[in-house]
Order: sequence, then structure tokens, then C-alpha cells
Amino acid sequence: MSTLSEKMAQRRISGVRNSDDARRVARRQLPRAIFDYVDGGAEDEVTLGWNTQAFRDLAFEPRGGTWIADPILRTKVLGLDLSMPVLTAPCGGMRLVHPDGDIGIAAAASKAGIAHVATSASGFSLEEIAQTPGPQWFQAYRFSNQEAMKTLIHRAKAAGFEGLVATIDTSVAGNREKDFRNGFSYNMSINLANVVKMAPKMASRPGWVYRFMRDGMPFQLPNTADLTVDGKPMELTEMTRVGKDSHSPSWEDITWMRANWDGPLIVKGILNVADAERAKRIGVDGIIVSNHGGRQLDGAPATINVLPKIAEAVGDDVVVMLDSGIRRGSDVVKALSLGAKAVLIGRQPAWGLAIAGEYGVSHTLEILRTEMIRTMRLLGCPSVDHLDPTWVAERPLGRIVATRQ
Ligand SMILES: Cc1cc2nc3c(=O)[nH]c(=O)nc-3n(C[C@H](O)[C@H](O)[C@H](O)COP(=O)(O)O)c2cc1C
Repeated sequence: MSTLSEKMAQRRISGVRNSDDARRVARRQLPRAIFDYVDGGAEDEVTLGWNTQAFRDLAFEPRGGTWIADPILRTKVLGLDLSMPVLTAPCGGMRLVHPDGDIGIAAAASKAGIAHVATSASGFSLEEIAQTPGPQWFQAYRFSNQEAMKTLIHRAKAAGFEGLVATIDTSVAGNREKDFRNGFSYNMSINLANVVKMAPKMASRPGWVYRFMRDGMPFQLPNTADLTVDGKPMELTEMTRVGKDSHSPSWEDITWMRANWDGPLIVKGILNVADAERAKRIGVDGIIVSNHGGRQLDGAPATINVLPKIAEAVGDDVVVMLDSGIRRGSDVVKALSLGAKAVLIGRQPAWGLAIAGEYGVSHTLEILRTEMIRTMRLLGCPSVDHLDPTWVAERPLGRIVATRQ
């Protein structure tokens, strides 16, 4: 039986019709520091803006007069049988958004028939996340130390994760200035003084404060418990502080992963052909064309703009996926047309989570599915397997790429 607050949350999300709505409602639920942490990008947020604009700059080339009753979205990606070509992206700090956190995201993904990629920077331990039904991949950070990374990967293997994702764009944390302005980092070391300091800012979000306190104020990263010198888990911003060593796996680390991980290995954060080819030479199974949702290097290109040449360069040997800026089902269809086999979404499920926990994530996933189905029907395209560059044109001129058959 739902509690009153759950019922209210479900009512709130029922009015959400698209990702903009979800963002707007989530903003009213979250304290500003948490909203900005999820929403914000690096520095001037140029890349963040490009990510969504680049999708808008692409037009479709629909085939009229075609009646597709039931377009096929189901697809297979590296052993995953997905009801639609979407995975939920690894996102640190989700337990700050709602106590369901990334377990709620993983559970909603599983119920939707898709897969979740679990972050190392979770408020839950990877073993806890692995308990959620449904297939999942594990995203490994290096946490400034190769031994730390290896420990995590061995644990991930033992916990039953099917795929391993190496994120290569996080040598150091992006310069997300809103977080500094909001005092997001000092707030991380939760103590009475900070609680008193933050109280006025939190007062307008009593629902969030209540849930957060009841959840035990989980600021730490349990996955890091046995990696630190004192044996205590790192705090969220401790891993993003400017250290001397990289938080991202290096190419040597990825070579080590290839030799020591027999399941699918995927590199996340590819933005150019040279890195894609390097990943292919190492023998990875997949790559994710990603700029980390505009949160790392400001000025990095929009992923949809670099996707076609990367997809063409690696050919069919490596499965190409994309994230950063997906807000509509039509964006998924554009990415698939230009060479992606599937996409990952970060902020969209996070907004659903903020509004109504796992239930809210499910709602946002079903919006995306409904939008994809309608787009495919309006295009006159029977199956995601039929999508290729001929369905997409640059606005308002001719086709931008028509290379891959
Ligand atoms: C709040 C937040 C935390 C993130 N944490 C991680 C992380 O721990 N590991 C990682 O590889 N990517 C992380 N990302 C990046 C996402 O995996 C993904 O690349 C990005 O969100 C996609 O862009 P979108 O938000 O526009 O969908 C994070 C993104 C957000 C919004």
C-alpha cells in the first residue's frame, strides 16, 4: 500500500509529459545545490547547450503514406536483450536525489526491459546494486590508484555484473562552478555546523530534507571503503578533488581490463576517431560516444556531431553507443540513424527519481518509449534495425552522411 507521500509523488509525476516537464518539477523538489549538481555542466556550459541543440539541428526525412502499426524497438546489444535501445547511464550521487537512488533507477530499468550501468560513485555498494533484478554493467573509476580500480573490478565480477565500462573523460573533475557557488563540496562533510549553515536553503524543500534525514544522510561512497588508507569510505567530492593521479582508467588500465575481464568491455567518453580506433585495437567490445553530459571538458563537441565518422571508422567490429543530450524519443531515433546501436540517458531518469523515486524513473522511461514509437510511425520506419543515415538530414539542407549501409 502506498503511503500518502508516495501517492502525492505519483500525482506529481502523472502530469509530467516530457523531459522538460520532468526537469521543471524536479527543480521544485530538490534543494538548489542538488538540482544544480545534476543539471549543471562545466564552466560556461557551452557543451551542455550544444548537446541538445545539435539534435534540434537535425531534421528527419520521413517516408509518407506508410502505416506502421507496431514499430520494433527491441534490440540486442552485447548480450543484452533490450525492449528498446536505451540504457540508464552511470550517475554518481543519485542517493542524494532520492533515497531510492541508483537502486531505484536500476529497478525501473529492469522493469522497462532495459539495462542499467552502475557507477562506482554510488551511495550504495556495488554489491547492493547488483542485487537488483535485471542485467547490469559496472562502470569503473580508477579512484586515483590502479590497485583501487582492480579491487573494484574483482568485486564487480564477483557480484555478477555482466559488462564493464571504463570512463576515460574524468582524469580530473570538470569545473562545475555552480557546485562551488552552492557550497556543494563543503556540504559533503556533513556535520552539525554544516547542517545549521545549510538549513535556510533546505527549508523550502522539507520533503527532500525529511527523506534525506530518514535515509541517514548518505554522503559517502561505500564502494571506496576498502580503498582508502584509513579504511573509511570516500566522500562524494573527495573523489572529484584535484588529485595528482587520474580518476579515469588509462589505456594501459583498459588493456589490463581486457586481459582480466572476459565479459563485454566498453569504453565511455570517446569523442574522436583516433581514440575509437585505439579502443578497437585493444579489443574492446563497445564504445560510448560521450562528453559526460557536458560536465567535463567544456568545448568538447556535441556527441551526435562526431558520431557518424566514429561509427564509420570502427565499422561493425565494435558496438557504438552514444549519450549526452538525449531528451526525446526522436533524439534516440536520430542517434540510431547516424550509427549508434543504443543510447544512454543520465539526467532524464534522474529527474523522474527526484519527483517520485523508482516510480518516477519508470514514468520517464515510458515517456521515452512512447515518443520513440510515435516517431518511428511518423517516419514510416518499421524497426530500429532499418534506421540509417538516409532518415536524417541537416536542417534545412541535404543529407549530412550517407556512408554506412
Ligand atoms: C549527476 C550526474 C552524475 C554522473 N556521474 C557519472 C559517473 O559516476 N560515471 C560516469 O561514467 N558518468 C557519470 N555521469 C555522466 C553520465 O553517465 C552520462 O554520460 C550523461 O549524464 C549523459 O548525458 P545526459 O545527462 O544529457 O543524458 C554523470 C552524469 C550526471 C548528470
